[in-house]
Amino acid sequence: MTKKITIAIDGFSSTGKSTVAKQLAKELGYVYVDTGAMYRAVTLYALRKNYISENNLDRDALVKELSLIKLKFIFNPEVGFGEMYLNGENVEKEIRQMEVSEYVSKIAAIPEVREMLVAQQQQMGKEKGIVMDGRDIGTVVFPDAELKIFMTASAEERAQRRFKELSERGEEVTYKEVLRNVQERDHLDTTREDSPLVKASDAKEIDNSHLALTGQFEKILELYNAAISN
Ligand code: DC
Repeated sequence: MTKKITIAIDGFSSTGKSTVAKQLAKELGYVYVDTGAMYRAVTLYALRKNYISENNLDRDALVKELSLIKLKFIFNPEVGFGEMYLNGENVEKEIRQMEVSEYVSKIAAIPEVREMLVAQQQQMGKEKGIVMDGRDIGTVVFPDAELKIFMTASAEERAQRRFKELSERGEEVTYKEVLRNVQERDHLDTTREDSPLVKASDAKEIDNSHLALTGQFEKILELYNAAISN
């Protein structure tokens, strides 16, 4: 039997991390975990409770209630991956809305939130055979992952993709707003004190600026084959 490994995929938002991660998990028969969805679900909880608004974040109220936030991925065979459930409710669509994107970096900067989610992620990956995508997977969650990939792409290219996605879903946003959100999140994610987004020294970098880049997936499979033969 082929040995099972841990695959960590990190990088900026909208770099195509989740597309690659899902594809890889499917190809290898691995479990796919989108850790961004977990930070988004905690953000949705805080928004619903009115703990976040434009100029205010009631950090203490949220931290006090962290044990009440139950997150679960439930596999949906129709889409081929686990959808995010927040306290028993499927919130997969709601967590992708612009309002959640606007505040998620603030929530992801709270150390207690990170501590709780990192522990859950480590638990999910205990048996290996997992592809996890996020910002700190190769640096904090699984520093010993056998394969680490770091995805990059220009902010303009990423904003263009995200704008297209949101418009197709019927959200009324402008490209400028989306670009501002992407740049703001990049800034917050890379400068926060706790587990900032950085490339692990042993991660392989893949520039995803050109979606049409053929051979990207083959390249990742090559990296995987090299990783399992080590
Ligand atoms: O991957 P995404 O855009 O859905 O992630 C949403 C936010 O969550 C992103 O702004 C950074 C944060 N995040 C994080 O801090 N650590 C992770 N492992 C995953 C996401």
